Amino acid sequence: FGQRIVVLDSTVSTQQDAMRLAEEGAPEGTLVLAEEQTAGRGRLGRKWYSPRGKGIWMSIVLRPAQPLAFTPQLTLLTGVAVCRAIRRLTGVEAGIKWPNDLLIHGRKVSGILLESATEDQRVRYCIAGIGIDVNLNVEDYPEELSHVGTSLKIEAGLEVDRTALIAAVLEEMELLSKLYAEQGFQPIAMLWEALSVTMNRSVRAHTGQGIAVEGTAVGLDPSGALVIETNQGERIQVISGDIQL
Ligand code: BTN
Repeated sequence: FGQRIVVLDSTVSTQQDAMRLAEEGAPEGTLVLAEEQTAGRGRLGRKWYSPRGKGIWMSIVLRPAQPLAFTPQLTLLTGVAVCRAIRRLTGVEAGIKWPNDLLIHGRKVSGILLESATEDQRVRYCIAGIGIDVNLNVEDYPEELSHVGTSLKIEAGLEVDRTALIAAVLEEMELLSKLYAEQGFQPIAMLWEALSVTMNRSVRAHTGQGIAVEGTAVGLDPSGALVIETNQGERIQVISGDIQL
Protein backbone atom coordinates (compact mmCIF):
# COMPACT_ATOMS: atom_id res chain seq x y z
CA PHE A 1 0.00 0.00 0.00
CA GLY A 2 1.10 3.52 -0.77
CA GLN A 3 3.69 2.54 -3.40
CA ARG A 4 2.04 5.09 -5.62
CA ILE A 5 0.73 8.24 -3.98
CA VAL A 6 -1.05 11.14 -5.64
CA VAL A 7 -1.19 14.29 -3.52
CA LEU A 8 -3.68 16.98 -4.50
CA ASP A 9 -4.13 20.46 -3.11
CA SER A 10 -7.85 20.77 -3.69
CA THR A 11 -10.23 18.34 -5.31
CA VAL A 12 -13.94 17.62 -5.53
CA SER A 13 -13.64 14.17 -3.92
CA THR A 14 -10.66 11.84 -3.73
CA GLN A 15 -13.14 9.00 -4.40
CA GLN A 16 -13.62 10.33 -7.94
CA ASP A 17 -9.88 10.76 -8.49
CA ALA A 18 -9.07 7.25 -7.25
CA MET A 19 -11.83 5.82 -9.42
CA ARG A 20 -10.39 7.50 -12.47
CA LEU A 21 -6.92 6.13 -11.67
CA ALA A 22 -8.37 2.65 -11.10
CA GLU A 23 -10.09 2.84 -14.48
CA GLU A 24 -6.70 3.67 -15.98
CA GLY A 25 -5.25 0.53 -14.39
CA ALA A 26 -3.71 1.86 -11.15
CA PRO A 27 -2.52 -1.04 -8.98
CA GLU A 28 -3.85 -2.12 -5.59
CA GLY A 29 -2.75 0.23 -2.85
CA THR A 30 -2.63 3.37 -5.01
CA LEU A 31 -3.40 6.28 -2.73
CA VAL A 32 -4.98 9.66 -3.44
CA LEU A 33 -4.68 12.36 -0.79
CA ALA A 34 -6.08 15.87 -0.76
CA GLU A 35 -5.59 18.89 1.48
CA GLU A 36 -9.22 19.80 0.96
CA GLN A 37 -12.31 18.41 -0.77
CA THR A 38 -14.97 20.71 -2.12
CA ALA A 39 -17.65 18.01 -2.24
CA GLY A 40 -16.48 15.15 -0.02
CA ARG A 41 -18.92 12.27 0.00
CA GLY A 42 -20.16 10.23 2.95
CA ARG A 43 -22.19 7.05 3.18
CA LEU A 44 -25.87 6.97 2.31
CA GLY A 45 -25.61 10.04 0.09
CA ARG A 46 -24.36 12.28 2.88
CA LYS A 47 -21.78 15.04 2.55
CA TRP A 48 -18.38 14.84 4.20
CA TYR A 49 -16.99 18.08 5.59
CA SER A 50 -13.33 18.22 4.51
CA PRO A 51 -11.75 21.55 5.49
CA ARG A 52 -8.31 22.47 4.20
CA GLY A 53 -5.31 21.06 6.01
CA LYS A 54 -7.25 19.87 9.04
CA GLY A 55 -7.79 16.23 8.29
CA ILE A 56 -6.88 13.17 6.32
CA TRP A 57 -9.02 12.89 3.23
CA MET A 58 -7.82 9.94 1.22
CA SER A 59 -8.89 7.09 -1.04
CA ILE A 60 -7.17 3.77 -1.67
CA VAL A 61 -7.57 1.56 -4.74
CA LEU A 62 -8.31 -2.06 -3.79
CA ARG A 63 -8.42 -4.96 -6.22
CA PRO A 64 -10.02 -7.83 -4.32
CA ALA A 65 -10.12 -11.27 -5.88
CA GLN A 66 -13.42 -12.25 -4.24
CA PRO A 67 -16.98 -11.67 -5.50
CA LEU A 68 -19.05 -8.63 -4.54
CA ALA A 69 -20.63 -10.40 -1.54
CA PHE A 70 -17.29 -10.11 0.27
CA THR A 71 -16.95 -6.34 0.07
CA PRO A 72 -18.64 -5.76 3.47
CA GLN A 73 -15.67 -7.62 4.92
CA LEU A 74 -13.29 -5.12 3.30
CA THR A 75 -15.28 -2.26 4.77
CA LEU A 76 -14.89 -3.73 8.25
CA LEU A 77 -11.20 -4.47 7.67
CA THR A 78 -10.62 -0.82 6.74
CA GLY A 79 -12.40 0.33 9.90
CA VAL A 80 -10.23 -1.93 12.04
CA ALA A 81 -7.09 -0.61 10.31
CA VAL A 82 -7.96 3.04 10.92
CA CYS A 83 -9.03 2.36 14.50
CA ARG A 84 -5.79 0.53 15.31
CA ALA A 85 -3.71 3.27 13.67
CA ILE A 86 -5.45 6.00 15.68
CA ARG A 87 -5.03 4.10 18.94
CA ARG A 88 -1.40 3.29 18.25
CA LEU A 89 -0.41 6.81 17.27
CA THR A 90 -2.46 8.94 19.64
CA GLY A 91 -3.35 6.61 22.50
CA VAL A 92 -6.95 7.81 22.14
CA GLU A 93 -9.34 4.88 22.50
CA ALA A 94 -11.48 5.22 19.41
CA GLY A 95 -14.18 2.58 19.03
CA ILE A 96 -16.02 1.27 15.98
CA LYS A 97 -19.73 1.80 15.51
CA TRP A 98 -21.12 -0.59 12.93
CA PRO A 99 -20.29 -0.73 10.15
CA ASN A 100 -17.26 1.53 10.41
CA ASP A 101 -17.79 4.89 11.97
CA LEU A 102 -15.05 5.61 14.46
CA LEU A 103 -16.24 7.25 17.64
CA ILE A 104 -14.52 8.88 20.58
CA HIS A 105 -16.73 9.63 23.58
CA GLY A 106 -19.75 9.06 21.37
CA ARG A 107 -18.68 11.55 18.71
CA LYS A 108 -17.58 10.68 15.21
CA VAL A 109 -13.90 11.21 14.41
CA SER A 110 -13.64 9.18 11.22
CA GLY A 111 -15.79 7.65 8.51
CA ILE A 112 -15.16 5.13 5.77
CA LEU A 113 -16.85 4.85 2.40
CA LEU A 114 -16.24 1.73 0.35
CA GLU A 115 -17.41 1.93 -3.25
CA SER A 116 -17.19 -0.91 -5.77
CA ALA A 117 -17.13 -1.02 -9.55
CA THR A 118 -18.53 -4.31 -10.82
CA GLU A 119 -19.04 -6.16 -14.06
CA ASP A 120 -21.20 -9.30 -14.22
CA GLN A 121 -21.06 -9.82 -10.42
CA ARG A 122 -17.29 -9.55 -10.60
CA VAL A 123 -15.53 -6.78 -8.68
CA ARG A 124 -13.33 -4.76 -11.00
CA TYR A 125 -12.00 -2.65 -8.14
CA CYS A 126 -13.04 -1.04 -4.88
CA ILE A 127 -12.22 2.40 -3.58
CA ALA A 128 -11.80 2.67 0.18
CA GLY A 129 -12.39 6.29 1.14
CA ILE A 130 -11.12 7.31 4.57
CA GLY A 131 -11.89 10.60 6.27
CA ILE A 132 -10.27 11.40 9.62
CA ASP A 133 -10.86 14.62 11.54
CA VAL A 134 -7.30 15.12 12.71
CA ASN A 135 -6.55 18.72 13.69
CA LEU A 136 -9.92 20.46 13.62
CA ASN A 137 -10.59 22.79 16.53
CA VAL A 138 -13.98 23.06 18.18
CA GLU A 139 -14.65 26.31 16.29
CA ASP A 140 -13.87 24.69 12.93
CA TYR A 141 -17.07 22.64 13.07
CA PRO A 142 -20.15 24.01 11.38
CA GLU A 143 -23.23 24.24 13.58
CA GLU A 144 -24.80 20.99 12.31
CA LEU A 145 -21.70 18.97 13.20
CA SER A 146 -20.78 20.68 16.44
CA HIS A 147 -22.53 18.09 18.63
CA VAL A 148 -21.77 14.97 16.60
CA GLY A 149 -18.22 15.40 15.35
CA THR A 150 -14.87 15.55 17.09
CA SER A 151 -11.19 15.52 16.13
CA LEU A 152 -8.09 13.74 17.37
CA LYS A 153 -6.67 17.11 18.39
CA ILE A 154 -9.70 17.91 20.50
CA GLU A 155 -9.64 14.47 22.13
CA ALA A 156 -5.88 14.05 22.54
CA GLY A 157 -5.25 17.67 23.45
CA LEU A 158 -2.45 18.16 20.93
CA GLU A 159 -1.76 18.42 17.19
CA VAL A 160 -1.41 15.05 15.50
CA ASP A 161 1.12 14.48 12.70
CA ARG A 162 -1.00 13.66 9.66
CA THR A 163 1.85 12.05 7.72
CA ALA A 164 2.63 9.66 10.58
CA LEU A 165 -1.04 8.75 10.88
CA ILE A 166 -1.35 8.09 7.13
CA ALA A 167 1.71 5.82 7.33
CA ALA A 168 0.20 3.98 10.31
CA VAL A 169 -3.12 3.46 8.47
CA LEU A 170 -1.30 2.07 5.43
CA GLU A 171 0.78 -0.23 7.62
CA GLU A 172 -2.32 -1.55 9.35
CA MET A 173 -4.12 -1.99 6.02
CA GLU A 174 -1.23 -4.01 4.72
CA LEU A 175 -0.94 -6.13 7.87
CA LEU A 176 -4.67 -6.87 8.01
CA SER A 177 -4.92 -7.57 4.26
CA LYS A 178 -2.18 -10.16 4.67
CA LEU A 179 -3.97 -11.72 7.63
CA TYR A 180 -7.21 -11.74 5.64
CA ALA A 181 -5.56 -13.35 2.61
CA GLU A 182 -3.95 -16.05 4.75
CA GLN A 183 -6.63 -16.77 7.34
CA GLY A 184 -9.87 -15.37 5.98
CA PHE A 185 -12.36 -13.10 7.70
CA GLN A 186 -12.50 -14.80 11.11
CA PRO A 187 -9.48 -13.04 12.71
CA ILE A 188 -10.59 -9.69 11.27
CA ALA A 189 -14.07 -10.21 12.72
CA MET A 190 -12.54 -10.92 16.13
CA LEU A 191 -10.47 -7.73 16.01
CA TRP A 192 -13.53 -5.78 14.89
CA GLU A 193 -15.65 -7.15 17.71
CA ALA A 194 -12.96 -6.29 20.28
CA LEU A 195 -12.75 -2.66 19.04
CA SER A 196 -16.46 -2.21 18.52
CA VAL A 197 -18.71 -0.02 20.64
CA THR A 198 -21.72 -1.72 19.05
CA MET A 199 -21.25 -5.20 20.52
CA ASN A 200 -23.66 -6.28 23.24
CA ARG A 201 -25.41 -2.95 23.05
CA SER A 202 -29.05 -2.38 22.44
CA VAL A 203 -29.41 -1.01 18.92
CA ARG A 204 -32.04 0.03 16.44
CA ALA A 205 -31.08 -0.74 12.86
CA HIS A 206 -32.41 0.85 9.72
CA THR A 207 -31.73 -1.42 6.83
CA GLY A 208 -31.37 -0.27 3.25
CA GLN A 209 -34.99 -1.27 2.72
CA GLY A 210 -36.07 1.21 5.37
CA ILE A 211 -37.09 -1.54 7.79
CA ALA A 212 -36.38 -0.88 11.46
CA VAL A 213 -35.37 -3.69 13.82
CA GLU A 214 -34.52 -3.45 17.49
CA GLY A 215 -32.42 -5.75 19.61
CA THR A 216 -28.98 -6.47 20.96
CA ALA A 217 -25.92 -6.55 18.68
CA VAL A 218 -24.39 -9.99 19.23
CA GLY A 219 -21.63 -10.08 16.64
CA LEU A 220 -20.66 -10.37 13.01
CA ASP A 221 -21.63 -13.32 10.86
CA PRO A 222 -19.10 -14.88 8.44
CA SER A 223 -20.17 -12.50 5.65
CA GLY A 224 -19.56 -9.39 7.75
CA ALA A 225 -23.21 -8.66 8.45
CA LEU A 226 -24.13 -7.44 11.93
CA VAL A 227 -26.26 -9.97 13.82
CA ILE A 228 -28.95 -8.49 16.04
CA GLU A 229 -30.95 -10.57 18.48
CA THR A 230 -34.45 -9.22 19.01
CA ASN A 231 -36.27 -9.38 22.33
CA GLN A 232 -38.18 -12.35 20.91
CA GLY A 233 -34.87 -14.21 20.51
CA GLU A 234 -34.91 -13.95 16.75
CA ARG A 235 -31.56 -13.35 15.04
CA ILE A 236 -31.53 -10.86 12.19
CA GLN A 237 -28.62 -9.96 9.91
CA VAL A 238 -28.13 -6.35 9.00
CA ILE A 239 -26.18 -6.00 5.78
CA SER A 240 -26.39 -2.32 5.06
CA GLY A 241 -27.80 0.89 6.45
CA ASP A 242 -27.18 2.52 9.79
CA ILE A 243 -27.71 1.79 13.44
CA GLN A 244 -28.51 3.84 16.51
CA LEU A 245 -26.92 2.89 19.80
C1 BTN B 1 -19.05 8.30 6.14
O1 BTN B 1 -18.83 8.19 7.34
O2 BTN B 1 -20.18 8.59 5.72
C2 BTN B 1 -17.93 8.06 5.17
C3 BTN B 1 -17.08 9.27 4.98
C4 BTN B 1 -15.94 9.06 4.00
C5 BTN B 1 -15.15 10.32 3.74
C6 BTN B 1 -13.94 10.10 2.90
S1 BTN B 1 -12.87 11.51 2.85
C7 BTN B 1 -11.93 10.81 1.55
C8 BTN B 1 -12.93 10.12 0.63
N1 BTN B 1 -13.42 11.05 -0.36
C9 BTN B 1 -14.72 11.28 -0.21
O3 BTN B 1 -15.39 12.05 -0.92
N2 BTN B 1 -15.20 10.58 0.82
C10 BTN B 1 -14.18 9.76 1.45
